[in-house]
Amino acid sequence: MRKSNSKLFIVFLFTFTIVVPTLIFAHGSANEDEKYWQLRQEEAWNNTLKAYEPNPEKITGIFNKHANNAVNEFLSETNSTRRELRGNKKWDGGCLATNPIDRCWRCQPNWADNRKRLADCVLGFGHNTIGGKNGEFYLVTDPSDDNILDPKPGTLRHAVIQKVPLWIIFQRDMLIRLQQELIMQGDKTIDARGVTVHIAYGAGITIQFVRNVIIHGLHVHDIHQGSGGLIRDSVEHFGIRTMSDGDGISIFGSSDVWIDHVSMWNCYDGLIDAVEGSTAITISNGHFTDHNEVMLFGASDSQSKDAVMQITVAFNHFGKRLVQRMPRCRWGYIHVVNNDYTHWEMYAIGGSQHPTIISQGNRFIAPPDIFKKEVTKRDYAEESTWKQWTWRSEGDLFMNGAFFVQSGDPDFTKKHPQLYDGIAPADSSQVTWITRFAGSLLCRVGLPC
Ligand SMILES: *[C@@H]1O[C@H](CO)[C@@H](O)[C@H](O)[C@H]1NC(C)=O
Ligand SMILES: *[C@@H]1O[C@H](CO)[C@@H](O)[C@H](O)[C@H]1NC(C)=O
Repeated sequence: MRKSNSKLFIVFLFTFTIVVPTLIFAHGSANEDEKYWQLRQEEAWNNTLKAYEPNPEKITGIFNKHANNAVNEFLSETNSTRRELRGNKKWDGGCLATNPIDRCWRCQPNWADNRKRLADCVLGFGHNTIGGKNGEFYLVTDPSDDNILDPKPGTLRHAVIQKVPLWIIFQRDMLIRLQQELIMQGDKTIDARGVTVHIAYGAGITIQFVRNVIIHGLHVHDIHQGSGGLIRDSVEHFGIRTMSDGDGISIFGSSDVWIDHVSMWNCYDGLIDAVEGSTAITISNGHFTDHNEVMLFGASDSQSKDAVMQITVAFNHFGKRLVQRMPRCRWGYIHVVNNDYTHWEMYAIGGSQHPTIISQGNRFIAPPDIFKKEVTKRDYAEESTWKQWTWRSEGDLFMNGAFFVQSGDPDFTKKHPQLYDGIAPADSSQVTWITRFAGSLLCRVGLPC
């Protein structure tokens, strides 16, 4: 009797001392956390407004001019080998750079001595992104992710939580299985050239309330939801996070983001999502396969912040076993240019809440199913409403019965001569070539990449 009483007492004391401080701690940090994220959000929104381009046709026009010039250059250089350029076999004819982003840095044997050159190559709405160009190199040597509160030096998580600009590279091939979402600070480049880096079988990458991030050359696949919990998001802060969505790359309230030459497939939620007032983004040279909801730009019809969202989707290959959302857009202005769409199971480009979609110089190959030929899909709107949305197709190549239902002002073209007057992007007949090297490149130090 006595014995069990004292046992009870001990248990009570124990619970009291443990639970009470935990509650106080959690309560205190929750308040502070809220303030911390509020400030981050406010700063990020200011950056979004700064990055927003009031005259988007200026950006699309410059983009098209570069695309057109680069393809003409490439074609005249390779004229003698044109015959070999046809067909669908894997290319083994040496280094070829077939679009203006690639031609800016690829095929130099000394690329690895000049890695930061990449930062000068971005085009489209993400054109101001320099990532970690003004920082030191950070060499990731350790693929582990065991301590998300106090990440070990040498890990990717330790690199991305630093406040200073960093150009992050990898010592060797590695598979990084993230225990929880990888929450990045701004002014970073993740540059996987020279090695093969997979971010897979764990949580994904979160770019939240920051600006200026380049992600290049990663394989991102088989991403699951993170359980949430205490996660460090910068050297000076950690806090409680709810479950992560299971996106491959989630861009949340961020600006100046460039995602180039990634290979992505099979994630739990989206491959790449951009939401909550994100803008100034370029997604280029990606290779995407095996996924349902590929890219979501704007997650809510009521989130009018996304009216400033401006995204370039260029030189990507949307490949096998993709279903829909390449991308699916709300509110913003999306330039979809010189991409190769070789598979979709429902539709390619969709949206709601009057986004502007300028589709130029893409190739769309419809699936065999007679009911899946339409490239476009509008949600939550009567025809009388969506007829007003500006969805224009210019110089796209349609194969196997594919068709794009245009809407909006049929004179849109004439009203934006900068966009259309002689500066069409590269010809859609060249899209196979423009996107042939999409996805993560197999670069080796000392050899042309
Ligand atoms: C955001 O911009 C507004 C207006 O310029 C300014 O008053 C505010 O202090 C800025 N907020 C942050 C967190 O930088
Ligand atoms: C490409 O080759 C064809 C003949 O095969 C020639 O007529 C044309 O002028 C060449 N173009 C260039 C840019 O060299």
